[in-house]
Amino acid sequence: MAKKHLNFINGKWIEPETGEYIENRNPADNSDLIGLFPKSGKKDVELAADAAFEAYKTWRLVPAPRRALYLYKIGDILNRRKEEVARVMTREMGKILVETRGDVQEGIDTAYYTAGEGRRLFGQTVPAELPDKFAMSIRMPVGVCGMITPWNFPVAIPTWKLFPALISGNTCVIKPATLTPASLYLLMEVFEEVELPPGAVNMVCGSGGEVGDEIVSNQKVNRVSFTGSTEIGRHLAERCGALLKPVSLEMGGKNAEIIMEDADLELAVDGALWGAFGTTGQRCTATSRLIVHKNVHDKVVKMLVERVKGVKIGNGLDESVKMGPCVSEEQREIVLKYIEIGKSEGAKIVCGGSPLNKGEYAKGYFVEPTIFDNVRPDMRIAQEEIFGPVLSVIPISSFEEAIDVLNNTMYGLSSSIYTREVNKAFRAIRDIQSGITYINGPTIGAEIQLPFGGVKGTGIGHRESGTAVYDFYTEWKSVYIDYSGKLQRAQIDTFNE
Ligand code: UN1
Repeated sequence: MAKKHLNFINGKWIEPETGEYIENRNPADNSDLIGLFPKSGKKDVELAADAAFEAYKTWRLVPAPRRALYLYKIGDILNRRKEEVARVMTREMGKILVETRGDVQEGIDTAYYTAGEGRRLFGQTVPAELPDKFAMSIRMPVGVCGMITPWNFPVAIPTWKLFPALISGNTCVIKPATLTPASLYLLMEVFEEVELPPGAVNMVCGSGGEVGDEIVSNQKVNRVSFTGSTEIGRHLAERCGALLKPVSLEMGGKNAEIIMEDADLELAVDGALWGAFGTTGQRCTATSRLIVHKNVHDKVVKMLVERVKGVKIGNGLDESVKMGPCVSEEQREIVLKYIEIGKSEGAKIVCGGSPLNKGEYAKGYFVEPTIFDNVRPDMRIAQEEIFGPVLSVIPISSFEEAIDVLNNTMYGLSSSIYTREVNKAFRAIRDIQSGITYINGPTIGAEIQLPFGGVKGTGIGHRESGTAVYDFYTEWKSVYIDYSGKLQRAQIDTFNE
């Protein structure tokens, strides 16, 4: 009998009010049942929001350096349990062990970085224009924060949201993706072990339609942070807009790598393969388009095709495997649909293009790493996010054309250019419309100490990570302290003396 997992509310493990559960299965082998997880309803979110609301009353008063002590311990425990969490994550999400270890590491990095922020959270002190007056700004917590998180980074992304919210003095209600609740469940165990005050973090498992929508609508939730598709992000933003509730959205990407004719081609091809097929292409930062100068195009395509043959596909728990399955049958269907669209648009498949469903692959949702050549920038496979192992090669004739093609999409998350010319590199940094640009590196692999997020259809101006994230989890308060003992009038007295 599969283990029934519960919600984590007010420091306790609680059955969902609905009494319903969802199976969590391994996408590499659907006979492997990881466990049952709550299919919660509105009532469960209400309980969680009430708990967070109560906990906020005291958590906000704990000095940030003391809140940080929990985060240091959380980092230590995650470090100790890294392998265990990574294995569970590979089982439920499918990405290979090297990558799930990286995912947990990103959570550990975020824990320590954020703990350090507990002794910063800088505000400003500025001169006041009047005598005997002091002026400063301080960051204030915002209350209960709701978080809706995706399946592709089941620990890292929740930590990007939870830890900055906590260090700022907020409390949280978080929903893991329906496909990957087990990893977040383990993170809740860590919170329990460090004795985080009850209610500071509450996890409610279930669907976006039930749990997600209630997190957004609940009156006690002051802020919503979401990572996922542009379609759902838009829906949440409309709802939050009507409620005047600030929302941070981290949505789709259609990231491109440019290879100029002067590039180190070995390096550029390595970067393209890692960016396109790492995590089975299921990162919002994944390389989905490869924009290649025509003078090196044939050579690059040949190198790509040769190297893809060496990518071993299979169950991510096998250390020799380099690419796991798609996260679900549904996700694989989307990928296969786009492969058909690419064919019908006239792009040329140079490798892959088929599902793998025989023998050892029969119980999983595998698809071959697929490369399309001769893709035109206006084709759907060059415009729409696929979220799978499909790379579109677009030939170009100049640097200017490369930048135009790269920018010609509704998204703007990550980007990359391989060139040895410093002038081109700097022009690319200036002209590419995206939140992240890599020079001579792949489009994936952002580090947590810099802002993460995108422009255009990828987001609405917020950033996660780094120090930028605090602009979402805090509100500024400007404070004026007049110690002159008399009425002083700004803008007036200064100019009338
Ligand atoms: C995501 O795909 O949603 O930059 C996050 C990267 C990772 C995070 C990706 N550090 O690829």
